Amino acid sequence: MKIIPTQTKDDMASAAAEIFAEQISTKPDSVLGLATGETPRELYKSLIEKHDAGDLDFSKISSFNLDEYVGLPKDHDQSYNWYMRDALFNHVNIADDNWHVPDGTATDLEAEGRAYDERIKEYGGVDLQLLGIGVNGHIAFNEPDSSFPLGTHPVDLTPSTIEVNSQYFATPEEMPTKALTMGIGSIFNADRIVLIASGPSKADILYDAFFGPVTPKIPASILQMHKDVTLIADEEALRVIREKGAL
Ligand code: GLP
Repeated sequence: MKIIPTQTKDDMASAAAEIFAEQISTKPDSVLGLATGETPRELYKSLIEKHDAGDLDFSKISSFNLDEYVGLPKDHDQSYNWYMRDALFNHVNIADDNWHVPDGTATDLEAEGRAYDERIKEYGGVDLQLLGIGVNGHIAFNEPDSSFPLGTHPVDLTPSTIEVNSQYFATPEEMPTKALTMGIGSIFNADRIVLIASGPSKADILYDAFFGPVTPKIPASILQMHKDVTLIADEEALRVIREKGAL
């Protein structure tokens, strides 16, 4: 694993944007794995700026998002489908048929999950996967569990995730309690993974995930076994890793 420490959240976004821009320039038909949450917003802004400056062409790029809330229609402003259009897709020249977000309104969620994994395979697999991390160590919506789930599947969200994410909904009751998420296996298949993290709330979990035991109780810990993972984090998020002398 490689760690890129940055002073600020903005620097974290710029460093991650450089890696994504290089990937897109080097392989214009790359398959990107994309993430939602607060952490990637500046990274997406930076990619839009590079696109506007004529430096990035998304016309042959395709993408697969990690997850979606169950039950939220695409046009709910807290759906991840909406988030991605708002944060990136509406502002770059990616083809409409080429970006994918799991459908959380599917009647058969298991079947939607299997079809999603098949589509990723048809596109040749993910070249570069972006990840954030939840305060409980979740990646995508793979919550702490007794085993590592493989494919895209429906999950019950934990009380910790519901508490953190309900702040974005008009009322906490609107926050879905289930999601459809790529599994650890789907994520692990990516050739290269970049995990971004920012702020003090991620400091403990980053140490546990990257320097503690590999366990499904901390889903992100499986990344220690992947061949090409880069962690880009600001100093607040790296505090515990520094204190324990791991960096
Ligand atoms: C969310 C998403 C994850 C994201 C994580 C951290 O619930 N499902 O993909 O990485 O939680 O989010 P944030 O970046 O807002 O801290």
